Amino acid sequence: MKVLVIGPGGREHAIVRSLLRDPNVSEVHAAPGNAGIGRLVPTHDIDANEPAVVTALATKLGVDLVIVGPEAPLAAGVADAVRDAGIAVFGPGKDAAQLEASKAFAKQVMAEAGVPTAMARVASNAAEAEDALDTFGAPYVVKDDGLAAGKGVVVTSDRDEALAHAQTCFDAGGDVVIEEFLDGPEVSLFVLCDGRTVVPLAPAQDFKRIFDGGQGPNTGGMGAYSPVDWAPAGLVDEVIARVAQPTVDEMAHRGTPFIGVLYCGLALTSRGTRVIEFNVRFGDPETQVVLARLRTPLGRLLLAAAKGALDEAEDLRWAPESAVAVVVASENYPDAPRTGQRIRGLRKANALEGVHVLHAGTRLDDDGKTVSAGGRVLAVVGMGLDLEEARERAYDGVALIHLHGSQHRRDIAAKAARGEISVPNPRTGALPAVSATGATEATEAEAAGVRTARA
Ligand code: AMP
Ligand code: GLY
Repeated sequence: MKVLVIGPGGREHAIVRSLLRDPNVSEVHAAPGNAGIGRLVPTHDIDANEPAVVTALATKLGVDLVIVGPEAPLAAGVADAVRDAGIAVFGPGKDAAQLEASKAFAKQVMAEAGVPTAMARVASNAAEAEDALDTFGAPYVVKDDGLAAGKGVVVTSDRDEALAHAQTCFDAGGDVVIEEFLDGPEVSLFVLCDGRTVVPLAPAQDFKRIFDGGQGPNTGGMGAYSPVDWAPAGLVDEVIARVAQPTVDEMAHRGTPFIGVLYCGLALTSRGTRVIEFNVRFGDPETQVVLARLRTPLGRLLLAAAKGALDEAEDLRWAPESAVAVVVASENYPDAPRTGQRIRGLRKANALEGVHVLHAGTRLDDDGKTVSAGGRVLAVVGMGLDLEEARERAYDGVALIHLHGSQHRRDIAAKAARGEISVPNPRTGALPAVSATGATEATEAEAAGVRTARA
């Protein structure tokens, strides 16, 4: 089969890499891709948010499957247009993509489907916002209703700061969702959906804040690891039964079937598992670790999802190894990342045992040199017998990379590797283990009082 992958980032590099290992896949194209993807497959410099443009490219290339990586093209209706042209596409249509594009919509669907999530209120003006903040109390959680690349959420104990974020969203013409604070560690679970049947991948954990210990503003994600051995046995089955299947059933019932990956962002709280957010695509950088461990051929699996045939898919097979991804970000990310800097050491890092480097925001400059082109520049993935070995390898790779002013977190998977993450006990309501610095890595949101930058 011939496959076209839409998107520019580390997630798409990971997808392309996995597709190239699938014996069923004969040809892969990417649009627009990045410098790393361009070393593997032909790339096409198009506006990937334009449904007609993507459809024309897919038709011209004669692909059997289009895989849409990011949320923006999905929210713009790219999957609908490609599907209308008779080409199989992995990714939801515009209506189903509202599960991510509107947090208020997602809350409605969850309420209808009985999915456990934080209590929430939508506010359209300052008075409504104040009322909602006082209903739930501190720590306050204020979310931009629309797409904000993971950066539209402020969690803070400072009521004025919470109100100020709400006001910024109102000034930009949007609503906010204000909700109760969820304690407990976070887990990302990707569930493949074909409109009816759901198939879970392995859980991963993401690190949302820019600085070690869960400090600083939210980012798109600074690192990830899988497996998540500290998660309770039965978590995946519980999420399928109480979250993914009811949501997919509700979307089918509404006449907007969900095809693609339902990203369940979960908090394992003292009152049980709660959905923090839905996304309608693979997470970045979690995909970099999840796909590094997946042994089932990816192309055939995603084609089955696109064609409504997941019930016939084989059982998934996983590598026994652990995977850790450390994101190397540009200077000044997430505020106003400085780009255009030379990146050195890629070949050396890639040559290390158990290490591969995935590109995110990179491009080739006029001299054919690899330079930074975005906030998150690379994800260095380490594979090892356990999390400790995987993280050592990932950090050995990071140490070989030279990018002026770059930043990375030093604590990706550290607590999990040391066995220091626990789920709050429902009976006692105890919070997860607190580190010497007083920060609970597992609950990044716990680092309340931290300002959030918007993309
Ligand atoms: P979202 O864009 O909804 O995923 O939110 C980004 C991050 O903000 C999440 O990964 C959490 O760390 C934090 N967050 C969002 N909602 C809540 C909540 N209700 N309680 C605690 N933290 C939250
Ligand atoms: N890593 C978080 C996301 O992809 O939204």
